[in-house]
Amino acid sequence: MLKGKRILLIVAGGIAAFKSLELIRRLRERGASVRCVLTDAGAKFVTPLSLQALTEDRVYSDMFSLTDESEMGHIQLSRDADLLVVAPATANILARMAGGLADDLAATVLLATDKPVLVAPAMNVRMWTHAATVANVETLKQRGIRFIGPNDGAMACNEFGPGRMSEPEEIADAIEGLLVPAERPLAGKRAVVTSGPTREAIDPVRYISNHSSGKQGHAIASALAALGADVTLVSGPVVIADPPGLRTVHVDSADQMLAACLAAGRIDIAVCAAAVADWKAARPSGSKIKKKAGMAPPSLELTPNPDILATLSKPGPQRPALVVGFAAETENLVANAIDKRRRKGCDWIVANDVSPAVGTFGGERNTVHLISASGVEDWPTLAKGEVAMRLAGRIALHFGQPPKAEAAE
Ligand code: C5P
Repeated sequence: MLKGKRILLIVAGGIAAFKSLELIRRLRERGASVRCVLTDAGAKFVTPLSLQALTEDRVYSDMFSLTDESEMGHIQLSRDADLLVVAPATANILARMAGGLADDLAATVLLATDKPVLVAPAMNVRMWTHAATVANVETLKQRGIRFIGPNDGAMACNEFGPGRMSEPEEIADAIEGLLVPAERPLAGKRAVVTSGPTREAIDPVRYISNHSSGKQGHAIASALAALGADVTLVSGPVVIADPPGLRTVHVDSADQMLAACLAAGRIDIAVCAAAVADWKAARPSGSKIKKKAGMAPPSLELTPNPDILATLSKPGPQRPALVVGFAAETENLVANAIDKRRRKGCDWIVANDVSPAVGTFGGERNTVHLISASGVEDWPTLAKGEVAMRLAGRIALHFGQPPKAEAAE
């Protein structure tokens, strides 16, 4: 709920401006009051009258209006709100923000504010990917401006790609996330999450690896951080970005991954979501193995990698209070996972089906079973982010339980 929160909504000129009308409704339904600044270009897409009717407030657009300035100066306008939201944010307004211009009321208010700013970009895909916009977005992010979207999809200009403004409901959720203090049940807990594949060198150019994308592990790290945990994400080589709000340590091999986990020191929670290569080359070559005409292919001797999950699960004073492993299986999923929990000595196993037909590797969704000492829970098919939130919620619950109930688990 956004009861009592005041949003200053800056509507710039883009076809997505019609969605801002819906955004105002969503925000008011959640209890916020909304005041609008409309740019000249924005007024070509929505009328001041519609904004006025939906906000039940006057709409500000003219920097030099004597009435505007006598009733509410632009400085006051920019500071009276709890949050400034620019939706839609065009390439032009992003450039003006990045450049510190104050050439209309919207830009002036954005320059004068001391409040957080959330930006929902909407523009043609080529404008969004243009080096100038990319640089402006980077500058703004570094200054602490928050972004939501843009989403991928078909655009009004008949192109396809990133550039669509996020949906009003998504923007309202992001606003709530920024303004309503989140519950932080894992505050004070330290967590390590492993994620992604490992890469085991055969020689300086060749390696053994697997298809893990890191999406599930990264999402778990983010979800734990969102609940207040101090998270170290130990990531193998992946193409996805480091999640904000936590520490990411980049590693290649399983040996490096184990070392990074141990270097994190005393932790309360370990989640091993990485797809660690089971074997590495017994004697990796220091130079590229040459292919010579007529020569038989070299044989590759393998040796087992350290088992990070089993190592972290070893009883002792350093053992984290909760160790969670993953079981990626293509057959007898649950039975194998129950066995794995016992063999590895971890507390919980998240079992997921990685048969090619299910598309878990690199996909967006996951069907998992949570296996603990108390039994097996079947979860519905969920987006990887939702699996992560659920798991983090269960972890928070685990730590919230009185010791007796925990012992009975
Ligand atoms: O033995 P298996 O690879 O099936 O076990 C999967 C679980 O063990 C995952 O949680 C994975 O992150 C972890 N693991 C590990 N180190 C290894 C192998 C697996 O941490 N060398």
